[in-house]
Amino acid sequence: MIRLGVNIDHVATLRQARGERYPDPVQAAVMAELGGADNITCHLREDRRHIQDRDVYALKETIQIPLNFEMAATEAMLLVALKLSPDAVTLVPEKRQERTTEGGLNLKGQREQLTQATGRLNDAGILVSLFIEPTLADIELSQQIGAGAVEFHTGRFCHQLALAKTTRQKQKLLEGLQLAAKTARQCSLQAHFGHGLNYTNSNWLQHVTEAEEANIGHAIIARAVFTGLKDAVAEMKALLNDLRHRPYLETV
Ligand code: PXP
Repeated sequence: MIRLGVNIDHVATLRQARGERYPDPVQAAVMAELGGADNITCHLREDRRHIQDRDVYALKETIQIPLNFEMAATEAMLLVALKLSPDAVTLVPEKRQERTTEGGLNLKGQREQLTQATGRLNDAGILVSLFIEPTLADIELSQQIGAGAVEFHTGRFCHQLALAKTTRQKQKLLEGLQLAAKTARQCSLQAHFGHGLNYTNSNWLQHVTEAEEANIGHAIIARAVFTGLKDAVAEMKALLNDLRHRPYLETV
């Protein structure tokens, strides 16, 4: 089964747009849990554009499923993570001007900083996942840095899948994720996936045997506007796991 992590950042985006107390991301997390979410993800950004400090502590005290805390590998964020003590931390790159996390970490450039942060989080018993591009070099580096998981940035895969015209083209794109996931497992790293996954492409992960977790935010929160969050989460979980949604692949 592929676990579904529901990212509730965009509920906070809506709240911050008007500076009100609603909608509450903690309430959203509870509804996601009722819909079958396996964990909740939130990203406390340096610019605090959506999730606020009080949200992360309230989430930790409220939800009954694991909390995956997304953050940049800075000293200030490490102090928050060590105080919060979430089940997992996903280290991500952060640029102030970006709309969302646009690419994977620069592991080579940040190696020292990431190794230190990972070590401190590991010592506190927190699973560390590194958000990376699905390349073999970055998987090996992640293992050397000491991570327990990698989250593959699926942005490019999702974009190219939407443009692909033939099943063969789609299959080729899939092969890239399959190889990455297999290599991660061989390096004793959990294989997670995230970014750009939606109701028309997440079912392709069913063909990635080693996929353990998908973290999905924008598409679920957008769908919830019309269907309610509980149903939006349940539908996404089915796309990830129900064989009736598995895409057909030609065998020749
Ligand atoms: N995983 C990570 C590490 C992310 O940074 C994001 C975006 O915040 C997501 C998953 C979710 O991406 P999306 O909102 O496109 O589903």
